[in-house]
Amino acid sequence: MEKILVLDFGGQYNQLIARRVRAENVFAEIVPYGKTDCEKILAAGYKGIIFTGGPNSVYDTASPHFDPAVLGLGIPVLGICYGHQLAAYMAGGVIAPAENGSEYGKAELTAGESVLFRDVPQKSVCWMSHTDCVKELPDGFSVIARTDNCPCAAMADEKRRVYGVQFHPEVTHTEYGRQILRNFVFGVCGCKPDWKMDDFIETSVEKYRKELAGKRVLLALSGGVDSSVAAALLHRAIGSSLTCVFVDHGLMRKDEGDIIENVIGKKLGVNVIRINAEERFLARLKGVSDPERKRHIIGEEFIRVFEDESEALGKMDYLAQGTIYPDVIESGKGDSAVIKSHHNVGGLPDVMKFEGIVEPLRELFKDEVREVGEKLGLPRELVWRQPFPGPGLGVRVIGEVTKEKLDMLREADAIFREETDKAGAAPNQYFAVLTDTRSVGVMGDARTYGYTLALRAVTTDDFMTATWTRLPYEILEAASGRITNEIKGITRVVYDITSKPPATVEWE
Ligand code: XMP
Repeated sequence: MEKILVLDFGGQYNQLIARRVRAENVFAEIVPYGKTDCEKILAAGYKGIIFTGGPNSVYDTASPHFDPAVLGLGIPVLGICYGHQLAAYMAGGVIAPAENGSEYGKAELTAGESVLFRDVPQKSVCWMSHTDCVKELPDGFSVIARTDNCPCAAMADEKRRVYGVQFHPEVTHTEYGRQILRNFVFGVCGCKPDWKMDDFIETSVEKYRKELAGKRVLLALSGGVDSSVAAALLHRAIGSSLTCVFVDHGLMRKDEGDIIENVIGKKLGVNVIRINAEERFLARLKGVSDPERKRHIIGEEFIRVFEDESEALGKMDYLAQGTIYPDVIESGKGDSAVIKSHHNVGGLPDVMKFEGIVEPLRELFKDEVREVGEKLGLPRELVWRQPFPGPGLGVRVIGEVTKEKLDMLREADAIFREETDKAGAAPNQYFAVLTDTRSVGVMGDARTYGYTLALRAVTTDDFMTATWTRLPYEILEAASGRITNEIKGITRVVYDITSKPPATVEWE
């Protein structure tokens, strides 16, 4: 498989660069600059290298650098933003603060003759974000594009096939960014578009069939997209040697436990052990209303459940996890293989010792994981499932968690999702929260005193920040009407119009 190295210098868009390359069906791998060297790069057989953006100035003592020999390996290089300056600096050029100060946002790019600008008009819009710029070109380089503020918006040493762009081709604000990346990957590096999900599935299945022959593998199934897809993929490779344990803590959404059991267990034929632990979770949560304490109890109880089950499960050789690429990469540092299940399902007990960990999705982005899931036959409702917190509805029932409140919330949440889906609205996350506020109402001729339910819908790219979704009134009206009519105990419905920040997506 041909691949492009995205050499990470700590830029905020490094993942985006890799995704853009992969969108062209060419595999791209992000490696932090401190984790590789010229020898490793040569050995890995990359077809091209992209230097990412990064901190402000190449002259800062703390700024990341790399062995200049990388420019002479015979592998094409494209530097982006800081990577462009670094390439120029490494080749002997001079970098200095831009004369007219920092340049942020859109700029008009005037492109010249170069394979990098094939099928890019002479004038187009690009997106800039920099303080320094290349003042003096290194020997062998020429300017191939400029903007008003930046006389060297792009440079090239066509002989050595080293290129640099001061702007960001990976962001959508750069009109022809995709074409420029395509020109690099295909025109300069000569890659073939052969990175396909079917190949990924086939290669992984073969690999794990060999590596895990005769081994027993345990996977803690949370019901989320990643662990479900990991289960489906490993099942295809090792069949009944995979055991999935699904701890139903009673804090799932309506019918969710059954869906997981039916789809992964019955439909795909995966060996799923469902542990119904509702009672023990609720017993531990009795009388507890502090959010952090609730989260802690739920996480800890997961470990206790596994502890109790570990004997019955017998010896397991490997632990499988649904770790995905964004979990693995930590910009510029890169040695941060996050143990996903510890984050999501609360961890496993120390008494369970494994020979190793299998993470079949650790090279994939979320959208690629979904594609694999669909190809493996998982239903859309599971593959496109919206995020759901590990502690489940335990953090969506405000205050003390009881079975009665959970049942009310489950029904209300299902109605809200149904009405939103029916209307074709697609917020990134939408759910109901049962507050612990009660209020007076009237039904028929009688006074009521019931719970207030909050509806929440957010629009976001990464869940780090989010805006509240402007849902049509018709959806809110239909949901509110049905919830107050159909669910005894809820007498008032409100809509949460707070963005993140200052609020978080979840209420607790
Ligand atoms: P907040 O509430 O922090 O949530 O704005 C951001 C996103 O993370 C989800 N979330 C969690 N996901 N385990 C998870 O796997 C958790 O404990 C957890 N808490 C919040 C939340 O639903 C939102 O999508």
